Amino acid sequence: MSQFQAIDVNEYYDQATFERIKAFAQDKPTPFVVIDTKIIAKQYDDMVHNFPYASIYYAVKANPAKEVLTLLRDRGANFDIASIYELDMVSDIGVTPDRVSYGNTIKKRKDVRAFYERGVRMYASDSEADLRMIAEEAPGSRVYVRILTEGTHTADWPLSRKFGCQNEMAFELLVLAKTLGLEPYGISFHVGSQQRDIGAWDSAIAKVKSIFERLREEHGIELKMINLGGGFPANYLDKTNELGTYAEQITHFLKEDFGDQLPQIILEPGRSLLSNAGVLVSEVVLISKKSQTALERWVFTDVGKFSGLIETMDEAIKFPIYTERQGELDRCVIAGPTCDSADIMYEHYSYGLPLDLAIGDRMYWLTAGAYTTTYSAVCFNGFPPLKDYYL
Ligand SMILES: Cc1ncc(COP(=O)(O)O)c(C=O)c1O
Repeated sequence: MSQFQAIDVNEYYDQATFERIKAFAQDKPTPFVVIDTKIIAKQYDDMVHNFPYASIYYAVKANPAKEVLTLLRDRGANFDIASIYELDMVSDIGVTPDRVSYGNTIKKRKDVRAFYERGVRMYASDSEADLRMIAEEAPGSRVYVRILTEGTHTADWPLSRKFGCQNEMAFELLVLAKTLGLEPYGISFHVGSQQRDIGAWDSAIAKVKSIFERLREEHGIELKMINLGGGFPANYLDKTNELGTYAEQITHFLKEDFGDQLPQIILEPGRSLLSNAGVLVSEVVLISKKSQTALERWVFTDVGKFSGLIETMDEAIKFPIYTERQGELDRCVIAGPTCDSADIMYEHYSYGLPLDLAIGDRMYWLTAGAYTTTYSAVCFNGFPPLKDYYL
């Protein structure tokens, strides 16, 4: 028996949805991603249902297509924005500035000025220089400070030490914010994207609690908000808990530390809202072996690390790949079409594809609605950016 497991599409989409996507995709040249907006709506509604007390700020970076933004705008979402360009995208569809948070801790002075002039009054920070700049360019605004969290190694796509600061510094920054005439509003963190250990929120919330208490006791500062970030699950090859389990546990952690009177709770989902809604369709360009006796096949396809699959870096995100061949599965390396040797998606992870897979066959990369179009290069080796369609 093969050590590899065939992909059962029903674990990812209901049959009718997948058939609809496949039919739509049939005559289109690959590669491209098809996104079913009904699934986004369902994912969003599930999030609201599971966290009825929270405000949702969609992380626009996951997929900023107009179809996605308008759908979420109409459902009442707010938006986590990382740049002036993303602000333009949501402003263009009439999102008002009170529904925007500037969540990037790395920003230019002229951008902060522009955000302020356009009415945005909520900013993330994690450093003194940035905070002082916000005080000058966006006076009186609400600021929340991002803290570092442990446990990001249990996330498929960790966010490491680039963002956030130690607790002590967060405390000092929030005190400084008040001195500078800003409103010290809350604390944020991100436990890492596709976080598999729900306990990561427990320790982060405990850290937040201690900062809340110290600020109250030592400076009379009453923070009002906790931003729990993203990290919520999408349905990839390696299974994780359902969103409902995340919500149950996280709500329990919050109540344990803050009782029934919770501060405002913000969530910033990206991956969990979009991933499950997308199927990326590619075509097999070449199948080869490195010698006559080599055991593994190399399957080259027309999508790769530079055209939307950068999250396969270090083989971090394991997309389920479906093909219509029924042959026995056997180990292969899966690589992209460009002339860069980094353009290999899975080499060490033992991926099985059907032995009868042939050049010209289609490969369906499931759960590919988030961080694919946005990460696609504009012209590497002349390949155009990943095309996207919305149903
Ligand atoms: C500040 C911030 N919020 C939210 C997100 C979205 O996280 P996820 O895609 O895990 O939901 C990210 C992702 O990089 C982020 O940097």
